[in-house]
Amino acid sequence: MHEIIEELENRREQARSGGGQKRIDAQHAKGKLTARERIELLLDPDSFEEWDMFVTHRCNEFGMDKTKLAGDGVVTGWGTINGRVVYVFSQDFTVFGGSLSETHAKKICKIMDMAMRNGAPVIGINDSGGARIQEGVASLGGYADVFQMNTLASGVVPQISMIMGPCAGGAVYSPAMTDFIFMVRDTSYMFVTGPDVVKTVTNEVVTAEELGGAKTHTTKSSVADEAFENDVEALQQLRRFYDFLPLNNREKPPTRPFFDTPDRVEMSLDTLIPDNPNKPYDMKELITKIADEGDFFELQPDFAGNIVTGFIRIEGSTIGVVANQPLVLAGVLDINSSRKAARFVRFCDCFNIPILTLVDVPGFLPGTSQEYGGVIKHGAKLLFAYGEATVPKVTLITRKAYGGAYDVMASKHLRGDVNYAWPSAEIAVMGAKGAVEILYRAELDDPDKIAERTAEYEKRFANPFVAAEMGFIDDVIFPHNSRRRIAKAFAALRNKDLQNPWKKHDNIPL
Ligand code: HXC
Repeated sequence: MHEIIEELENRREQARSGGGQKRIDAQHAKGKLTARERIELLLDPDSFEEWDMFVTHRCNEFGMDKTKLAGDGVVTGWGTINGRVVYVFSQDFTVFGGSLSETHAKKICKIMDMAMRNGAPVIGINDSGGARIQEGVASLGGYADVFQMNTLASGVVPQISMIMGPCAGGAVYSPAMTDFIFMVRDTSYMFVTGPDVVKTVTNEVVTAEELGGAKTHTTKSSVADEAFENDVEALQQLRRFYDFLPLNNREKPPTRPFFDTPDRVEMSLDTLIPDNPNKPYDMKELITKIADEGDFFELQPDFAGNIVTGFIRIEGSTIGVVANQPLVLAGVLDINSSRKAARFVRFCDCFNIPILTLVDVPGFLPGTSQEYGGVIKHGAKLLFAYGEATVPKVTLITRKAYGGAYDVMASKHLRGDVNYAWPSAEIAVMGAKGAVEILYRAELDDPDKIAERTAEYEKRFANPFVAAEMGFIDDVIFPHNSRRRIAKAFAALRNKDLQNPWKKHDNIPL
């Protein structure tokens, strides 16, 4: 018995040492942690239960029969984050560059299967040279198996990808199918084809960082939701983020202890809206003043800044926030902001997270680049996402809600449950100046007349009362009472039950 126990200890020790000290040192020299160190930082102390530690690859070609390393380049299992279960895989770059073999893929699929069965999210830590070159098509099959599992798990349990090293070729598509992607600055990158192939095919010279680094994916492509400075910060922020998420699609969002009063009055909100309607203000100030303890986890902060998305808590319970941001492009809706918000709304709806929508939107951005880029279809994504969402929806119009954008932003007509407006709200087909220029074209040469017409239009429509008279706004509220009124609205909606008609699935305009 003693010998067997010793063998177990030896085997475990061997598996834990991955590709050996030299490669571990090389990993550290790049400023990266090892697969196991990452798991240790991510999970609660001593909570990790490892599976398949002794699995090895089955490839005998290219001398691979002589290099069978326990674990085969990925550490898998489950543990807890602040006491709540999570399934994890963490690719080990010290073993064959974290490349994906048939058995490596099987290990990932196994924990994804268990996560779905047990209703717990999956976090994938990606650090891999892609398909295991020695295995050829067996590795490609492995990738496809993971993609299939990603598809099946989508909308059942939250899936989060942390990119902490290279992620190239088909390897990017598994993260792309998950709900959120986070990256680490300077040490992680994602691309379908690397700089060398790009040069051969298109003659473009580009570095890996420019092509697929964290900056590229958080500012240009919007593939990644946020980037962090280093492995430690990234994993700490992931723990914070995890606390906002429900475990699966049958659960309500988690409720955590809170140390803030739901009826907190914020007098400063009474002066948030500038006197001049063309002057911007920071919508994030309103978000943090509504949130418990001002805690806001923003997603995609560096992409399509004209719309803000992220999670807050009200009375301890997670709420998804979508808000027009007057500070960027006057908060206009365009292709990028519609796509960004639509995906976020759909995530919230999949996982029973109520949605708070804060509206100050002058309309859709006009122009050829928007029309040629398909703003009709992309704008429709947001419209569709709000229209199909059955979670509690509370909307507050702070200032402008013009035209089609009024309809889109969780209006009453898209089954908004509670729709409030501040007294400063202007709900109209368009701004007074634009409206007068169309209605009174013949009088455009007479500035006095036009000023008079503009004032008349503003008096009639630049307020929330026309909409309130029609019941499109449930109440006009004092800005300083916003947190209290919104908290009450969400509390009243806790047991909301609304079903869409049966369908196999919808056909959102992609
Ligand atoms: C097997 C690999 C590997 C791979 C790296 N290694 N990638 N082994 N298959 N795909 C091994 C290396 O041989 C090396 O082993 C160790 O991992 C570390 O690699 P280095 O090159 O020394 O590291 P570094 O300089 O940091 O470069 C990392 C890298 C580079 C940029 C990822 O290794 C690389 O370009 N790898 C190949 C990437 C690739 O083309 N993958 C296939 C993509 S196609 P030793 O023993 O020396 O430590 C794909 C198709 C999937 O993924 C399609 C699915 C639909």
